[in-house]
Amino acid sequence: MTKFSLFLSVLSVSSLLFPSNGWSADRSQQRNLIPLPAELTWQEGELPIDSNFMVALEGRKDSSLEGAVQRWLDRLAKRTGVRVSKMIQASPEQAKFVIQCEGEGKAPSVLQDESYSLAVTTLQARLSAPNPLGILRGLETLMQLVRSHGKRHMLPCVTIQDRPRFRWRGLLIDVARHWQPVEVIKRNLDGMAAVKMNVLHWHLTDDQGFRIESRKFPKLQEHGSDGKYYTQLQVQELLAYAQERGIRVIPEFDMPGHVTSWLVGHPELASAPGPYQIERTFGIKDPTFDPTREEVYQFIEAFLGEMAKLFPDEYLHIGGDEVNGKQWNQNSKIQEFIHEHNLKDNHDLQAYFNSRLSQILTKQGKKMVGWDEILHPQLPKNIVVQSWRGPVALAHAAKTGYDGILSYGYYLDHIRTAAFHYNVDPIPSNSDLTAEQRAHILGGEAAMWSEYVTSETIDSRIWPRTIAIAERFWSPASIQAVVDMYRRLEVESIRLEEFGLTHRSNYATMLQRLAGKYTVESLKVLADVVEPVKLYARESAHHYTSETPLNRLVDAARPESDTARLFRNAVDQFLKDAPRVGRSQEVQFVLTRWRNNDKKLRPILEQSELVAEAAPLSRDLSTAAKLGLEAVKFLKSGQPASVSWQDEGRRILDRAQEPRAEVEIAVIPGIRKLVLAASQLEKLKGLPAADWNRELDSQVEASKRKLEK
Ligand code: ACM
Repeated sequence: MTKFSLFLSVLSVSSLLFPSNGWSADRSQQRNLIPLPAELTWQEGELPIDSNFMVALEGRKDSSLEGAVQRWLDRLAKRTGVRVSKMIQASPEQAKFVIQCEGEGKAPSVLQDESYSLAVTTLQARLSAPNPLGILRGLETLMQLVRSHGKRHMLPCVTIQDRPRFRWRGLLIDVARHWQPVEVIKRNLDGMAAVKMNVLHWHLTDDQGFRIESRKFPKLQEHGSDGKYYTQLQVQELLAYAQERGIRVIPEFDMPGHVTSWLVGHPELASAPGPYQIERTFGIKDPTFDPTREEVYQFIEAFLGEMAKLFPDEYLHIGGDEVNGKQWNQNSKIQEFIHEHNLKDNHDLQAYFNSRLSQILTKQGKKMVGWDEILHPQLPKNIVVQSWRGPVALAHAAKTGYDGILSYGYYLDHIRTAAFHYNVDPIPSNSDLTAEQRAHILGGEAAMWSEYVTSETIDSRIWPRTIAIAERFWSPASIQAVVDMYRRLEVESIRLEEFGLTHRSNYATMLQRLAGKYTVESLKVLADVVEPVKLYARESAHHYTSETPLNRLVDAARPESDTARLFRNAVDQFLKDAPRVGRSQEVQFVLTRWRNNDKKLRPILEQSELVAEAAPLSRDLSTAAKLGLEAVKFLKSGQPASVSWQDEGRRILDRAQEPRAEVEIAVIPGIRKLVLAASQLEKLKGLPAADWNRELDSQVEASKRKLEK
């Protein structure tokens, strides 16, 4: 099957099966902005986009704005086929789209105003902003507003006043564990800009790779990167690309731990004698800079000086996480130093190191960012703390006067759902921070650690879930409706591939490779209902190195199974008025499909070594689906299910819910809900639907938790 027809089948199956999902309905087309603006009023009517759609730029002439408008017009032309002719010549009266900006184009900074206003009437669209940065954000909103009916394209009439809730809306990309070429970064910058994110946190160095050219110390990349690093010219190209899209770039040079790759070329920086080799495995490693030697600071100062010149942003990230202290404990000179300087322990020693770094960076005109381990009373207050260990750590930083950003709850490598991330807030509603303390919370960052992603899969771990995080960072805190978020997220997810992002398209490619000469359909049925194991479960399931191919079912599988989410909705619809049950077609259709799939998939499972590991999953899906069909039958007929059926059912579901091949079958909880409903029909009869629905959900959750233990 070709990529294109597979794509079509994904769409048609989901809209056929789940029409309530409805993203293709005209009614919903109008209201699919994400992130939602701060203030928005829909109006009647529309502004046609046709060959008369001329654009005028008012205000200060700015080449960056002209570039941005040209990119916008190119995207519009691709999407609609309407090629808007030269915009600059149009006079404001003639123009259908007026862009008004008096401010000067500057490199984006943390303090810059990103607000804009947008008014679309039946006569004209008007976008104005104090700064070009606001115009960039407004152009993305306007692009999301474009809709089409057949051959006609238009903008709905609307008034928008928009500004971000948080000024720091970042995405961390780790290019050390797995190398990510320039084009991966570019397409992700485009994706970020489309959802109004404004910081790329570039994790450039770690134990597994030193990914940037140093001209002062070329041994760093020559010995520490396997040749996989960005030249300074490439860095400059990416910085310009980011800046054009209103995105700041913060490089991270993680130290004093996570530094093995530096030490391959420069073992003299370490706290224990070398030689060192590029690390191929993951986790917390021992190699650590020696914070007691002046030569180490001289080296760092010279290196950071070079980087400070290359990167224009006022912030620079020094990492500071996960120092295990082993090399320090084993080095008697370091222990003497601790003693002589009246330091209590390794944490104090790291604080000493950090305060030296902070002095170096201040001299170089930079502010320091570090992971929350760097917090120590000794550090100056102009640093930014990035919290990965929890909201309490972040609140503590804010209370003690530090600026902070939140990453806890936004780790994309944890393979949580978009809804999970969406519910995490840098300033939760129950926060006890004062207004002054709240002002210290600058925002947050989604974090794409790359132990288990390659350039083939990374987009599918970043997108579409990061769209939900982007809304959390930009939109008012009161925007919380999860179902509506998913609807808008799905629309935007499809659009993002316009930039060459592969978060949807890589699925077909990878599944087809697994299926070899066979048609991919039955493998896709299985892949659609599984999710990779969560948190750090892959670490213990299989021995991984940075060389291990990431080409299995677990790598193709989506972090969040849409099919499972939609199935659960369909089950809820079916059961909503139980014991009187609703329409069963959707539920029965998919259960039948899953029940029959094992037989169809068998030839692939037997022929392909790469997917053989999925055989027990496929069998268990089939068995569980058969059970689900029986449950539907009981529920429809009102017949009680026997105790032995219930016991057997529990056994089948418990087995099916066990992760194998590093994936879990994500539709088991939905099937379990059906089975529990059928088992408890008598008991449920007397209860109001909402109560027993809640009761069933909590039983489903409880059995999931029990099995996870
Ligand atoms: C981290 O996850 N060690 C920052």
